[in-house]
Amino acid sequence: MNYQDIYEHSLHSPRTFWKEQAKKLDWFTFPESILSNEEDGLSRWYKGGKLNTSYLALDYHVEQGRGEQIALIYDSPVTNKKEKYTYRQLLEKVARFAGALKNLGVAKGDRVIIYMPMIPETVVAMLACARLGAVHSVVFGGFAAHELAIRIDDAKPKVLLAASCGKEINKIIPYLPIINAAIEEASHKIDACVVFQREIFHAELVEGRDYDWGTLAAAASQAIYVEVDATDPLYILYTSGTTGQPKGIVRDNGGHAVAMKNSMSWVYDVQPGDVYWAASDVGWVVGHSYIVYAPLIHGCTTVLFEGKPIKTPDAGTFWRVIDEYKVKVLFTAPTAFRAIKKEDSEGVLFEKYDTSSLKYLFLAGERTDEATYNWLTDLVKVPVIDHWWQTESGWPMLTNMAGIDLKKIKPGSASQPVFGYDIQILDADGNQLPPNTEGAVAIKLPLPPGCLPNLYNDTDRFKQSYLSTFEGYYFSGDGGYVDEDGYFFITGRIDDIINVAGHRLSTAEMEEVLASHSAVAECAVVGIADELKGQIPVGFVVLKSGIEIDENDLEKELIQMVRNKIGPVASFKRAVVAQRLPKTRSGKILRKIMRYMADGKTFNPPSTIEDMSVLDEIRELLKIKKVGLISI
Ligand code: COA
Ligand code: AMP
Repeated sequence: MNYQDIYEHSLHSPRTFWKEQAKKLDWFTFPESILSNEEDGLSRWYKGGKLNTSYLALDYHVEQGRGEQIALIYDSPVTNKKEKYTYRQLLEKVARFAGALKNLGVAKGDRVIIYMPMIPETVVAMLACARLGAVHSVVFGGFAAHELAIRIDDAKPKVLLAASCGKEINKIIPYLPIINAAIEEASHKIDACVVFQREIFHAELVEGRDYDWGTLAAAASQAIYVEVDATDPLYILYTSGTTGQPKGIVRDNGGHAVAMKNSMSWVYDVQPGDVYWAASDVGWVVGHSYIVYAPLIHGCTTVLFEGKPIKTPDAGTFWRVIDEYKVKVLFTAPTAFRAIKKEDSEGVLFEKYDTSSLKYLFLAGERTDEATYNWLTDLVKVPVIDHWWQTESGWPMLTNMAGIDLKKIKPGSASQPVFGYDIQILDADGNQLPPNTEGAVAIKLPLPPGCLPNLYNDTDRFKQSYLSTFEGYYFSGDGGYVDEDGYFFITGRIDDIINVAGHRLSTAEMEEVLASHSAVAECAVVGIADELKGQIPVGFVVLKSGIEIDENDLEKELIQMVRNKIGPVASFKRAVVAQRLPKTRSGKILRKIMRYMADGKTFNPPSTIEDMSVLDEIRELLKIKKVGLISI
């Protein structure tokens, strides 16, 4: 069967289709029901099924004779360390650390927050939680204490797992001060904190609260996997929403495992034993799915890379890793290649390495711009595949399915829907739009296995955020169109979420921070185009009347506030004072118009605008302050 036949079968007979796919896993009890509709109005996959995700990722492979195969390669140019773990060794570490967590009282259903960098112990921590049926929530290291505190209060973890520090290119980031501040700020009190002491930095532990990871693990015996329901949560991953409160995306065990397993062969065309590398971070969904769970469930060798595409030590580092470990598939964000291209546009460093093992390059996190696509294709000479997905989906929704039938690549397009995803372009009334007409990208329910079944402890917000815009559909928050050949083009977020270097951030959250400054009356944060990072945030603030303040000092203070509250990952580096902000007569700030102006795009001012002259003021401000393309 070709792509089209299988795709149609997946939509017309979802139960039959997903039953077949589930058979590829080693369940303890095969599900009684494939897809059920529940009382809360939501649907669930694989009710009655019993499994353990950590078992599928480790024990199963050892039982099947893969014990001596390398499961994990750790490559850390920032610490000059390289390590390899076989499936058997990784299982031993995970089982022992699960034993340590068990000794701390962690059991099925308990939440555990993981605030750790890209080191093997982070993978061990995730799989150890999964082994016990505990629900992990990994928090990205670039987030500040306040963000960690928000997540502690929402997830209410029993234990927090940490490392002594993170390492960015050439600076050490001590984690304990961040953790101490977060624990101090949060109302929920955790029972214990377990700290992994890295060789590069020794942290001062808090007596009575903190445990040393090594001591705890050495004293523990190996824990056996716990049987969980397919519908039990495996993890919560917080992501930016359109308010200051991030959304706790829940991932179940059963649907997730089925999606992970199948996506490896369908989407990425990899087989057990292949070396697969997702150059992302375990703090993001890409890291959860394609550094940890999918490659291990599929029996591949996964690469855990603690470095950057450039400066660690140079822009040839990605090519070096491919050569050294014979990577078959590399998956990263386009911004990483824009950074490499800037430093090595002629590909001189690329030529130093043998990258013949590489069969595909997959990109996601943001749309792949044509310049990057063309440069990469000419240089690497393998298919460069843009694919579209979100934290909510957990795996690709649009892609060119390399493992089924690699189709023609259209630059700028994320290609076609993955099996199970009925993706449609809708107008504001929920009607399907004809080809080449831009609208909202929505998915007809039910969402396939692996996608979020709910938000953590917030069914109302789940329904309101995703299911209420178009009845019978999940609304992705993205805009786009489909062409006459069925290829989808994602044009960007329709809401106030921005994408900075492949990182999803909420402008509303940044606005909350700016608004808390004593001199600020009102503000707007807009994501404007950036050559390297795709988008960067810029703040526009209106001062309270009578306030006199040096604008440069204010800008520095606001930048520091965003860094302290949200974290360096926000890349918030510009804030300018405006006399007024453009608004509609009903008082809504026209952020999109400001973005268009900064990006030098043409637009029709809406008839609802309160006062047209404010647009001239903003245009002038952008030029004077050298903000965005309009100033060039
Ligand atoms: N812990 C602590 N700080 C972190 C961090 C972490 N895990 N990750 C990033 N930061 C900090 C950086 O040090 C930087 O701080 P600074 O303002 O003091 O310099 C800031 O957050 C912004 O980091 P980053 O977005 O990484 O920008 P950069 O300028 O350092 O590097 C790129 C630019 C393009 C090289 C980098 O963003 C990159 O490699 N992107 C790939 C994106 C990716 O993997 N996305 C995942 C989705 S697939
Ligand atoms: P995240 O939840 O952090 O993975 O971010 C998801 C968002 O990133 C999507 O809603 C899109 O706006 C954007 N995105 C991810 N992949 C792509 C892609 N291939 N093309 C266009 N936008 C993308």
